[in-house]
Amino acid sequence: EMQFKVMVAGASGGIGQPLSLLLKMNPLVSNLALYDIAPVTPGVAADLSHMDFPAKVLGYKGPEELPNAIAGSHVVVIPAGVPRKPGMTRDDLFNVNASIVRDLAQCIAVHAPKAIICIITNPVNSMVPIASEVMKKNGVYDPNRILGVTTLDVVRSCTFIGAINGIDPRSVSIPVIGGHSGVTIIPLLSQCKPAVQLQEQGKIEALTKRIQEAGTEVVKAKAGGGSATLSMAWSGAKFTNSVLRGLKGDDNVVECAYMKSDLTEASYFANPVQFGKNGVAKNLGYGKLNAYEEKLLNAALPELKKNIAKGVEFVSK
Ligand code: APR
Repeated sequence: EMQFKVMVAGASGGIGQPLSLLLKMNPLVSNLALYDIAPVTPGVAADLSHMDFPAKVLGYKGPEELPNAIAGSHVVVIPAGVPRKPGMTRDDLFNVNASIVRDLAQCIAVHAPKAIICIITNPVNSMVPIASEVMKKNGVYDPNRILGVTTLDVVRSCTFIGAINGIDPRSVSIPVIGGHSGVTIIPLLSQCKPAVQLQEQGKIEALTKRIQEAGTEVVKAKAGGGSATLSMAWSGAKFTNSVLRGLKGDDNVVECAYMKSDLTEASYFANPVQFGKNGVAKNLGYGKLNAYEEKLLNAALPELKKNIAKGVEFVSK
């Protein structure tokens, strides 16, 4: 069985630690490289290395150790950055996180240009364009290898719909398209399988709003203690597992991912894609939208285009 090296950048954080725990338990992972600027990082690696799973875990601390962490990685997952506080939008994180992702991407371009990059750092809508522009500058750009992780929007949708329908959330399947922030998140409730058990349009709209604002629900509940970490870690691990299954040669692996796109007027867009040996093998697009979903898309596109332009400009200046 093929096995892979996965590097986590920001491994000591609220997302990074549980994400690393879940990756340590993944049978497709043979080597786990934990990178962070936090002094605790070698300890996080030592701690995880004691778990009775075969994956080898090594810790790397600070920029001098970054090249060794990256080298040989098949997949790099990036939750490095600062999280939201109450009253902040994901976009407020832009300046700090943009520099972090740009610098990580630069090092990946040099030391593992073929790695599949999975970006969790917010605002994801802008971070994927930033990493893409850095890869272009280095002449190693492959749009099928630079992906924004929007899986938490799908996970939340499945959970909320599972509760409404009174079924196991894992049996729910729904495309969530667009981006990963507020109005750019578009759950296609009309395409949900099985059908959402809601009749009135008002309830469909309330569910849509709850999915769009679910991150803020967590930020408020944590009362200054950060944003979603555990559900995000699970979502990141799930997405990474799908990427790894694609690399291994499974040809039936589908997830929603935010990536370069020509489906709409937004040059990056999330929708279901099929994974393969080189990252995304096929963009599956999205089916027919109903009138309400068209309205959501029209509201999302200007915001998404603004987020994308902001990322592109950040790298060009
Ligand atoms: N390189 C590597 N790691 C870094 C860097 C850097 N340049 N800068 C910060 N970090 C690390 C921090 O040391 C910390 O361990 O990133 C980690 C971030 O962890 P938290 O502050 O706990 O934040 P978290 O809740 O995990 O969220 C991280 O993911 O979902 C997004 O919006 C969220 O952008 C935020 C990011």
